[in-house]
Amino acid sequence: MKKIAVLAGDGIGPEIMAQALKVLTAMKLPFEYEEALVGGAAYAAFGHPLPKEVVELAKRSDAVLFGAVGDFKYDTLPRHLRPEQAILGLRKALGLFVNLRPAVCFPELTAASSLKPELVSGLDILLVRELTGDVYFGQPRGKRISPDGAEEGFDTMRYAVPEVERIAHVAFKAAMGRNKHLVSVDKANVLETSQVWRDTMIRVSKEYPEVTLEHMYVDNAAMQLVKAPKKIDVMVTGNLFGDILSDEAAMLTGSIGMLASAALNEIGQGLFEPSHGSAPDIAGMNIANPLAQILSAAMMLRYSLGMEEEAVRIENAVKTVLAQGYRTGDIWSEGCKKVSCSEMGDAVVAAL
Ligand code: IPM
Ligand code: MN
Repeated sequence: MKKIAVLAGDGIGPEIMAQALKVLTAMKLPFEYEEALVGGAAYAAFGHPLPKEVVELAKRSDAVLFGAVGDFKYDTLPRHLRPEQAILGLRKALGLFVNLRPAVCFPELTAASSLKPELVSGLDILLVRELTGDVYFGQPRGKRISPDGAEEGFDTMRYAVPEVERIAHVAFKAAMGRNKHLVSVDKANVLETSQVWRDTMIRVSKEYPEVTLEHMYVDNAAMQLVKAPKKIDVMVTGNLFGDILSDEAAMLTGSIGMLASAALNEIGQGLFEPSHGSAPDIAGMNIANPLAQILSAAMMLRYSLGMEEEAVRIENAVKTVLAQGYRTGDIWSEGCKKVSCSEMGDAVVAAL
């Protein structure tokens, strides 16, 4: 019996998680689910966004299915108590240094993209984001008084060679399984951290002679993603650039409400979550798109539980409901059936 930690979180998290659980339950998989509060919900109940018990639960689980965290009402809390610390803390505690963020444009949704259909139809990018280093975790950081007496905030951008090496291997292996073309994104014209990143990528590339390695500065990468996204197959980058570029890549596909993501560690444990946030503005209205959460469950079956066939079954069911014309508001267009969050979940179950 595999153990799944279910952490729905805040905002639309519980609504979309309910749909993913509906799908998994309908498939009668041999899982034991244990739910717990995280993010703002955990802060409200226990005074901390990531209680120790939740870290322990995640560690003894085979996989973590995560919803979303964050709410405007917690924006004024000190940083260590904000909902976002739940996801950052879990990434760190489990050593989830790999973040796979596929940006796939489903043919039925081509019209929902803000780019011209011919630029995005058939788009299939895999963004590999390093997830436990960079300016997100670099020390020191804080507030201080600068030599000329002004208050300043500061953070540390850093990457050690071994951290870059291990994500490089993940990216090169992914490229080997796809088009054998890897774009590495950095800002080596300005940043020392990026020079170490680039030098390491070049060194690791020698072990993958079949893969063509291309370097792109992050500003250019942002431009290429909207100019000619289909020229990109696998893209690897650091934590901060990856955060920004993955939202951009996601939007190319029509809606960020469609995209799943996987965060993995060295031993194959993973945390699976939608690429989107908690959308507190529409929470509780039963109108959110649950497909990214459902597709996250599929990624969980594939990457942490070795259930490729079952993963494909969910992905095919999602394709079926799109072909049948079911749409939540974010992806709706003329002539389609507008459905609620729970109706979309029911449609996926019916299509399994
Ligand atoms: C993401 C989110 C997180 C990040 C936040 C919620 C801390 O934006 O998963 O992309 O910046 O990594
Ligand atoms: Mn983000």
